[in-house]
Amino acid sequence: MEIKDMEGPERTFRMKALMLFALILSLIFIPLAHAEEEEYDDEYDKEYEAIVEAGRKAYGVRCEICHGEKGDGKGLAGLIRRSEMSGRVQVIYPWDFTRAVFRFRSTPSGCMPKDEDLLNIISNGIPISLMPPHKHIPLEERESIVQYIKTFSDYWEEAEEYEDEEECAPIKVDKPEWVGTTASVIRGKHIYESMKCWECHGHTGTGDGPKAPELKDDWGRTMLPFDFTSGELKRGSSPENVYITFSGGLDGTGMPSYSDFLKEEERWHLVSYTLKLMEKKH
Ligand code: HEC
Ligand code: HEC
Repeated sequence: MEIKDMEGPERTFRMKALMLFALILSLIFIPLAHAEEEEYDDEYDKEYEAIVEAGRKAYGVRCEICHGEKGDGKGLAGLIRRSEMSGRVQVIYPWDFTRAVFRFRSTPSGCMPKDEDLLNIISNGIPISLMPPHKHIPLEERESIVQYIKTFSDYWEEAEEYEDEEECAPIKVDKPEWVGTTASVIRGKHIYESMKCWECHGHTGTGDGPKAPELKDDWGRTMLPFDFTSGELKRGSSPENVYITFSGGLDGTGMPSYSDFLKEEERWHLVSYTLKLMEKKH
């Protein structure tokens, strides 16, 4: 059977009718879809605001006494602890959140922490500095506090826009089996010496290196390098935590990142040696 083409004018008419129909449909549905999107955005904003508001309340009850209403570390409690080392006294203040500089990140030096990093430090606290752990409060409450902390500096919003996602991805942590073996401890000791960790931390890890007396933090305050023999590390003392500390550095304190100077393997040998130093006087 021969299929006959539609006549010219008839075809044009049908095409036009179809196009008109499509146009009418799009006029109805595109704004509808758009409205739905806006509604979704509004809903998201409202939900987010509710979380931040819950965080503000929880922060007021649990954190403000130390970290201050404005998040500047100037709460009623003032200084928290005096720490003495080799005749030097360091006063430990609650952290100031307004500069958006954080130490206990899983991310490289100069990057912002992930929500999870803040959640971890809130949950575990920093026992040696008397920052209390908050594991006992509901997860939702801790998460809302994390969002509230981010309102203390506009830098969070900027970072969300400009921070390079790849560059600021969490540091890869892949612990080799040999960490802690005698051979690795010996390699680590050599690296500790050649990288001059001792300039700050001292040859036996007690924090009395020759550079220690002049160290200041970003706020211009006396800063003592950690004494490895004094107990738990601030971030937590698992090999993984120690590895992240010298891979990412402790921004704000003068403790540098070694990711550009040491290979992954060398950093794991250093973990072995740090853990060994910590055992010494336990
Ligand atoms: C008793 C006082 C006290 C209370 C209460 C307290 N903190 Fe702290 N916090 C501190 C001190 C002191 C430090 C600094 C410790 C140090 O530098 O060794 C600190 C450090 C921190 C840090 C580390 C920042 C970094 O360098 O990465 C975070 C985050 C933090 N606090 C969040 C909170 C939150 C959130 C709450 C409430 C849930 C809270 N803290 C309650 C005293 C307190
Ligand atoms: C310029 C001085 C300086 C040098 C060099 C230095 N550190 Fe540190 N380090 C510090 C300071 C200061 C702190 C304490 C920061 C704090 O308490 O907030 C610290 C803390 C630490 C911590 C404890 C982290 C915690 O969770 O409490 C470890 C581990 C550490 N350093 C390892 C090393 C190793 C390994 C090297 C050499 C590869 C090294 N550091 C080189 C200054 C230095």
